[in-house]
Amino acid sequence: MDEVWSDENTFVMNGMKFCLIRQNFNDARTTKDSIAIIKNRGMIDRYKSLIRENAVTNILEFGIFEGGSALLLAAIDERVKFVGIDIRPPSPAVLGLIRDHGLTDRIKLYYNTSQGDTARVQTIIKTEFPGKRIDMIIDDASHQYELSRASFEASFHYLKNEGLYLIEDWAWAHWEEPYQTQLWADMPALTNLIFELVMLCGSRPDIISEMSVQKAIAIFRKGGQEVGNFSLSKLYRHRNRWTPAL
Ligand SMILES: C[S@@+](CC[C@H](N)C(=O)[O-])C[C@H]1O[C@@H](n2cnc3c(N)ncnc32)[C@H](O)[C@@H]1O
Repeated sequence: MDEVWSDENTFVMNGMKFCLIRQNFNDARTTKDSIAIIKNRGMIDRYKSLIRENAVTNILEFGIFEGGSALLLAAIDERVKFVGIDIRPPSPAVLGLIRDHGLTDRIKLYYNTSQGDTARVQTIIKTEFPGKRIDMIIDDASHQYELSRASFEASFHYLKNEGLYLIEDWAWAHWEEPYQTQLWADMPALTNLIFELVMLCGSRPDIISEMSVQKAIAIFRKGGQEVGNFSLSKLYRHRNRWTPAL
């Protein structure tokens, strides 16, 4: 099902109205009439292609926000099961929409959960995808290096072979304001994780077989090697010289 746009920020898909949020993220709220989503139109097209071309049905996302990506990705293909994790408290409006649109079997949201809580993340994965592999994992949560790295280490090996691991907004350290304000300037860049995954792709193509890095998103395809629980820095060759310096 494709979306129908009414203006550059608003579209309807599967009877649900979505509104693109471009600023004042903290004030944005989903209501029963309008779903807030932090994606631009190009990203929505990208997700449609990725899901359809890779026959994606099982999706895990870190970063629910106001439920926009959950409801969108489930609407792209009716076979999609979506599991979301966020540190926020539950949104009654989002849960109401999921119920009213008959999506309770296909969208499972875990609030009050940090992407850095490895034990909890792995329990959620085992509960929601028992005996199955995940087709696509999206990290669109804190955008902090250590937390994003912890999510990668906790979840990557639950991807199926050829599955996709996506990191959104990895390049914030290279963007203009507000990303150069003190809040962000004190944090290690998420770019450090991208560098590590480049080294992993070079060292172990059987673990990351290919990658595509663009301004708003980096995509890593899992190779055929089973890795189990792992520490990322033990997997790539770095001549003992690597420190996350950026
Ligand atoms: C950019 S928004 C997600 C946008 C959403 N995927 C969309 O497309 O509309 C980032 C979300 O990550 C959540 N977040 C921040 N730190 C987190 C953490 N440590 N663990 C889990 N979620 C976190 C925030 O609460 C926020 O809802």
